[in-house]
Amino acid sequence: GSSPLIIVAIDGGAASGKSSTSRLLADRFNLLHVDTGSFYRHITAELLRRGVPHADRPALLAALPGLKFSTRLEGRSARMLVDGQAAGDEIRDQRVNDHVSHYAAVPEVRQVLLGYQRGQTEVARQHGFRGLVMEGRDIGSVIFPDADFRFFLHADPAERAKRRAAEGRQDSVAERDRLDSSRKTSPLVVPAGAIDVDSTFLTLEQVVDKLAALIAPKLP
Ligand code: DC
Repeated sequence: GSSPLIIVAIDGGAASGKSSTSRLLADRFNLLHVDTGSFYRHITAELLRRGVPHADRPALLAALPGLKFSTRLEGRSARMLVDGQAAGDEIRDQRVNDHVSHYAAVPEVRQVLLGYQRGQTEVARQHGFRGLVMEGRDIGSVIFPDADFRFFLHADPAERAKRRAAEGRQDSVAERDRLDSSRKTSPLVVPAGAIDVDSTFLTLEQVVDKLAALIAPKLP
């Protein structure tokens, strides 16, 4: 069809509930789900594997143009392939948790992902989705500032640490948020005009219902 794609941007800190919320919204409205954090994680894992430290600027700049990105669909989720390879489970490991914010702070790393992320609208179109829901740190501020919906998810730090622990995951959530919020290029900010949702005292279902109630009237 030729009806315009609906774009839903969801930003927020680490473990703010973005991923579960985005996935459920994608299911509810037949949207492509795009987890941009997994893209930064994949690049980080790849550069660590190649022995390219984030602080070695010449080596990093030399490595970036060689990375070829493509997309594979897994259910409703977009999986980024780097040189034809999907990311492995290691992108959720402590090592990547500890490094990803440093690589993500490098402007050229963000630049190579910018076009790839915007290009996900084409992926959504090709596969007949109604639109896409993209989660990250700078989606409503930089990637899709004109998105139909821009949400920002907040959760109390203690609650977020609890969520990560319940998932059995080691994650320095507060430290990553500090780094992601203080970097110069596309920091984690509440975009002007974004709808702020505090999920601290809400269940996942309540958060999804809240967002869905706003989105539904836009969809015929
Ligand atoms: O969403 P996540 O926790 O998996 O993201 C991992 C890291 O990737 C996060 O700490 C910062 C970076 N990131 C980013 O800089 N911009 C985005 N749009 C998404 C993630």
